[in-house]
Amino acid sequence: MGRLEGKIAFISGGASGLGEAMVRRFIEEGATVAFGDVDSARGAQLADETGARFLPLDVSQEEQWGVAIGSVEAAHGRLDVVVNNAGILGTGPLETIDLERWNRLFAINCTGVMLGCKHGGLAMQRNPGGARGSIINISSNAAILATAADCGYSATKGAVMQMTKSIAVNFARRGLAIRCNSIHPGPTDTPIFTPWRATDEANAALDKALLEMVPMGRLGKPREIANMALYLASDESSFSTGSQFVVDGGGTSALAGM
Ligand SMILES: NC(=O)c1ccc[n+]([C@@H]2O[C@H](COP(=O)([O-])OP(=O)(O)OC[C@H]3O[C@@H](n4cnc5c(N)ncnc54)[C@H](O)[C@@H]3O)[C@@H](O)[C@H]2O)c1
Repeated sequence: MGRLEGKIAFISGGASGLGEAMVRRFIEEGATVAFGDVDSARGAQLADETGARFLPLDVSQEEQWGVAIGSVEAAHGRLDVVVNNAGILGTGPLETIDLERWNRLFAINCTGVMLGCKHGGLAMQRNPGGARGSIINISSNAAILATAADCGYSATKGAVMQMTKSIAVNFARRGLAIRCNSIHPGPTDTPIFTPWRATDEANAALDKALLEMVPMGRLGKPREIANMALYLASDESSFSTGSQFVVDGGGTSALAGM
């Protein structure tokens, strides 16, 4: 208890799945939490239940980031942690890519993360007492091993990994005490897969495909990813920046089946 005592945290895509688990975990450890999401109904419900503050946010819209982060600063006078978690699944394989869908995917998974780093990082530079903070970008195991089935998703998550390193080094070389790291979850049981679970057959096929990626033989639990975010949000990770934190049940450790 108390690992985030006194810290002000903002989580994007906090209304569901991994983001929701982070909202709950950060509050358990003493943080004051605000979160943004496009799902206002679920956001309001989670805010009521947890005491976190919900702010409507489409991460692809820069002016909405300005309003959300400005509102956190106005309420609390500082910002210590930003988790860029909002994301969607992708485009399918190359031959069937629809350009509108591709652009929307990049706007959310890639531009949305950059905007969170930009506005979160600027707010952290305004913190009383000097620049300080931790930015955590949710990438994926798909940044490390690509999926043939989803060209766009792998591309956006690879971009998030590389963007994280650039931002981290930029801050560090300027002497700013703002860290930036990425988390790479393996398949984790969240509503992101709901559209692929429409029938019993589809459900079974999806679980089979997901479990083949995990030597541990099970899906991750959202809290297991939230625990990594908690470590990176806390001062326990004070010497880590620009790094990739894999939480995937061993999935990126060996070639499939070998
Ligand atoms: N679940 C997994 O297996 C897994 C694995 C690796 C990486 N990830 C990544 O973790 C992150 C969270 O995924 P999840 O599994 O919790 O999914 P989820 O669908 O349960 O939650 C995603 C949340 O993001 C919100 N969101 C979507 N578009 C948004 C936008 N434009 N602006 C603001 N909010 C928006 C959704 O409303 C939802 O609340 C994503 O970036 C995803 O790519 C998930």
